[in-house]
Amino acid sequence: MATPAATDAYRTRFSGQFGRTFFRRFSGLAVASVGLGTYLGEPTDAVDERYREAVVEAVENGCNVLDTAINYRHQRSERVVGEAIEAADVDRDAVFVATKGGFLPFDGERPADPGAYLRETYLDTGLVDGDDLARGVHCIAPDFIEDQFDRSRANLGVETLDCYYVHNPETQLAVRSAEVVYDQLEAAFERLEARVATGDLRAYGVATWDAFRVPGDDEQYLSLAEVVRRAARAADAVGNDASAFQAVQLPFSVVMADAFTEAAHAGSGGPTSALWFAREAGLSVFTSASIAQGALADPGTIPDAVAERLPGDTPAQRALNFARSAPGVTCALVGASSVEHVRENLAAGEFDAMGAGAFDATFE
Ligand SMILES: NC(=O)c1ccc[n+]([C@@H]2O[C@H](COP(=O)([O-])OP(=O)(O)OC[C@H]3O[C@@H](n4cnc5c(N)ncnc54)[C@H](OP(=O)(O)O)[C@@H]3O)[C@@H](O)[C@H]2O)c1
Repeated sequence: MATPAATDAYRTRFSGQFGRTFFRRFSGLAVASVGLGTYLGEPTDAVDERYREAVVEAVENGCNVLDTAINYRHQRSERVVGEAIEAADVDRDAVFVATKGGFLPFDGERPADPGAYLRETYLDTGLVDGDDLARGVHCIAPDFIEDQFDRSRANLGVETLDCYYVHNPETQLAVRSAEVVYDQLEAAFERLEARVATGDLRAYGVATWDAFRVPGDDEQYLSLAEVVRRAARAADAVGNDASAFQAVQLPFSVVMADAFTEAAHAGSGGPTSALWFAREAGLSVFTSASIAQGALADPGTIPDAVAERLPGDTPAQRALNFARSAPGVTCALVGASSVEHVRENLAAGEFDAMGAGAFDATFE
């Protein structure tokens, strides 16, 4: 497990190299505010090799936040992250490793008959009950989530996980009501709270695509306040003093800023955005798709009037500095299988993040 001592030593190793507040606090750890994601790319040996080099480059040069999910590239991303942590000249305890479960994963490649594979691997074995499935590929039932948690630990070659996300829970809204999805989340959270109690996990959260950035009447909407309330109940149920629900992952970028602009969550002073709600509730936001899956790295995609307000030498750096300057955001995740991209993205952290006034001004 990442530890405060090892992550503090890691931060010290890079002192003077990054701007102020490059390293931030998450659950007592010092974590970089530019993190490496591992979602995109073909499920091939060649892309594995690229990611292996990219992850080693990242963790050896100041990025100690790695984000993956069991279904990414059919489990290859988790396995490569594990190999790279092992290969890199860095302590595992200095690296924050987060992964997710919820989508039924293939194993290494897309099978010739995906439906038959899912049926034989998950339904026929009793691991997944067909009634718990959404869209034929998604399940957040507690037994399944706990099974996936352990498979992820094995894939990553780590004893403990630093953060575990229930992946895109809004997928379940296709087949059941929000109330039932909150019940499902609470049941899954109880298992995760129990794994925190046994020391297998530091913290957990939910990773979403639509749930927290859409308006309250959208069919993909989930209430962050209700999710937090369910986590508190889960902690109570297993006898934990405080809930370990500490992280939210959501897409946020110059071209997808609704998590800041859409006041869809019940804050103490009335409706507020997901980012402000998170900040008020003491949750850490990890932004996904921070450079719009590569689009914001292209010159001209960020409008000039915005770009000129953003710190950075390149479009990708300006996009990352937008994301990591937003309220409530602990870390901007950026997927990169290229060592050159890792270097460019990490160098965004040599610039100070914007203060609140400068960040707000980008919306003028
Ligand atoms: N619902 C969810 O839970 C969810 C959804 C999406 C993403 N995520 C997480 O968030 C992470 C980030 O999101 P993302 O990977 O979808 O999108 P992203 O970070 O916005 O973009 C990644 C893409 O940008 C390219 N890129 C990276 N740095 C670049 C640079 N400096 N110049 C030009 N191109 C660059 C990468 O190419 P190369 O690979 O060639 O370097 C990759 O194709 C994911 O990896 C994943 O861990 C979570």
